[in-house]
Amino acid sequence: MVISADKPLVVAMYCILAFLRRLTWDLQQAQTARRLPVKHQRQIRFTPGSLDCRRTFEIPKQAGDRPEVAEHVESPPDGYLAVFDAHQSPAEADPLEAGQQARQLIDAELPNTGILLIRDTGLSNPESCSRFAQGLGYERMTYEPYGSPRKKMAGMDAVTAVPGQFRQDIHNEMSYNPQPNSKIMFMCLQPAESGGENLLAKTADFTSNISEATLQRFNLKGGVRYLRVYEHPCQASSLMSWDERTGRHSLQDAAQYWADLGFTNIRSRRDGKLFVENKQPACIHHPTSGQPLFFNIAQTSVKPACSTPFQVTYGDGDDIEDWVVAEIIRAHWSSTVALRLEQGDMLVLDNYAALHGRLPYRGERTLLTLLTRD
Ligand SMILES: [Fe+2]
Repeated sequence: MVISADKPLVVAMYCILAFLRRLTWDLQQAQTARRLPVKHQRQIRFTPGSLDCRRTFEIPKQAGDRPEVAEHVESPPDGYLAVFDAHQSPAEADPLEAGQQARQLIDAELPNTGILLIRDTGLSNPESCSRFAQGLGYERMTYEPYGSPRKKMAGMDAVTAVPGQFRQDIHNEMSYNPQPNSKIMFMCLQPAESGGENLLAKTADFTSNISEATLQRFNLKGGVRYLRVYEHPCQASSLMSWDERTGRHSLQDAAQYWADLGFTNIRSRRDGKLFVENKQPACIHHPTSGQPLFFNIAQTSVKPACSTPFQVTYGDGDDIEDWVVAEIIRAHWSSTVALRLEQGDMLVLDNYAALHGRLPYRGERTLLTLLTRD
């Protein structure tokens, strides 16, 4: 369009129209920008990884060791556990997003091997672990009220405070309780200066190392019985009191507390002691695969059983024979492997399908743990 300079009114109108068109376009752009998410979720590419070369780990002897304890264990063979690399550095990772995306990986991969290792998660402190756990979205459990209180860091449980010079032999977490956790995860913030490798075993491998005669024996004798004894709060004793354990201040309320957790045989004595008992089958079936699993802590049975606040016997109350305990410990060690976690590693276990423990260590070692009900 040609506009002659002698028509100022037309020029002015043209300028106003151009300005209005530009203003309308800017407003449309601003509205579009408001509809877009503030920040696109960055997709994490989990790539399959592998473990370092095979190693042999010495088992240092410690007081009270039985002859069945192995002298060394190997690192896991190829394919024993699923390994993935998240390629996240602590600076770039949003732990909430990383947790949300790791959830998909865990749900897809964990059923295959029962053990999943995610490397380079970017987790570097308790706060990032807590946010990652939030992103995972599983129903969380804590060690209360079952076990010893744990050190808390940003709402996460630290691993057990058992001193580093002691070994922790393998076990399924809370296998002695009516309602064990479904998964257990370990987030490594600082590996030990030396030692502290995680011990692992597949429950199915361990079960296949228990003789049919022993499995039958547990079956005939009513499984495994776990009995805890709690002292009256006014009694000075080395036992923990029932109000200390439950936070309830009357015997009736404390008993109800245990009943609500699925314990069935709860009784008190005249002296105010509370006895909390549960019997579990020695073998259970995996909740999803149906695989039969020897799932208990019968090997912790000690004699005389009556002198300890936590007693483990056959379901009928008889002591578990020494030769049975020896067989279980031998079966444990013949199926155990060891794995060293590095900073940023996360180990995820199906608590029914896998057992865990750790070797002694020196120096600081910071691992956080997460238990899930689902
Ligand atoms: Fe444990």
